[in-house]
Amino acid sequence: MTNINQVLADKVEAVKQVLADIDANYKSATLASSYGAEDMVLMDLIAKFAPDIEIFTLDTGRLPKETYEIMQQAKAHYKREVSVYFPDANDVETYVTQQGPNAFYDSVELRKQCCAIRKVAPLQRALAGKKAWLTGMRRQQAVTRSELPVSEWDKTFELQKFSPLTDWSNGDVWAYIKAFDVPYNKLHDQGVVSIGCAPCTRAITAGEDIRAGRWWWENPENKECGLHVKS
Ligand code: ADX
Ligand code: SF4
Repeated sequence: MTNINQVLADKVEAVKQVLADIDANYKSATLASSYGAEDMVLMDLIAKFAPDIEIFTLDTGRLPKETYEIMQQAKAHYKREVSVYFPDANDVETYVTQQGPNAFYDSVELRKQCCAIRKVAPLQRALAGKKAWLTGMRRQQAVTRSELPVSEWDKTFELQKFSPLTDWSNGDVWAYIKAFDVPYNKLHDQGVVSIGCAPCTRAITAGEDIRAGRWWWENPENKECGLHVKS
């Protein structure tokens, strides 16, 4: 690897080892991809070194148009299947009928209910029967992630959970994307670092916390949606 520095090359090697371990010992395993920068790095490494690892995405129905664009672009680029999970139609209809389409701005409880319907329930279906799942989470992303291990038992969903990029910096992620021409979500070019649903994501300004643009009206301590519950 000539076009990345040695520190990053070592980190890439370490991820390849983790992927090889997952591939050998956890059949079947699946990457949860939001098509954010980290997940694109993992998608690229999986495509190159561990293609048997599956990939899925949770389409909440409220994703930004740029996320659908990268979804389409990645399909053409990697020519591999990514399973898409939608929320239960009845649950969405009931919630929106009773609370309104943008009720998540009204309280943490209503926001968590929306995430439970649109993300967590579909995640449960995506992980059913799997031995392991992979995420693109990094320690530097949030106070809630500062002790994130590469591998841990996920008590909530009852399978092994891997975060192979746990010690990567934002700079590492972008150096990899640039060096290997990895397709990425164009919202990142507009100052959006962490990308979720359109109404709950905004760009951040210099000096702001990485996740300041997610659910920006809430306290940092609340900013997990139920996909990643601490063990
Ligand atoms: S979130 O919990 O706040 O939404 P974040 O956007 O930081 O999470 O993403 C962390 C990891 O959660 C991603 O790297 C990915 O593995 C998983 N993830 C988040 N959103 C989705 C999604 N819509 N579909 C699949 N996986 C997702
Ligand atoms: Fe609902 Fe916002 Fe959570 Fe998306 S991020 S599921 S729109 S509350």
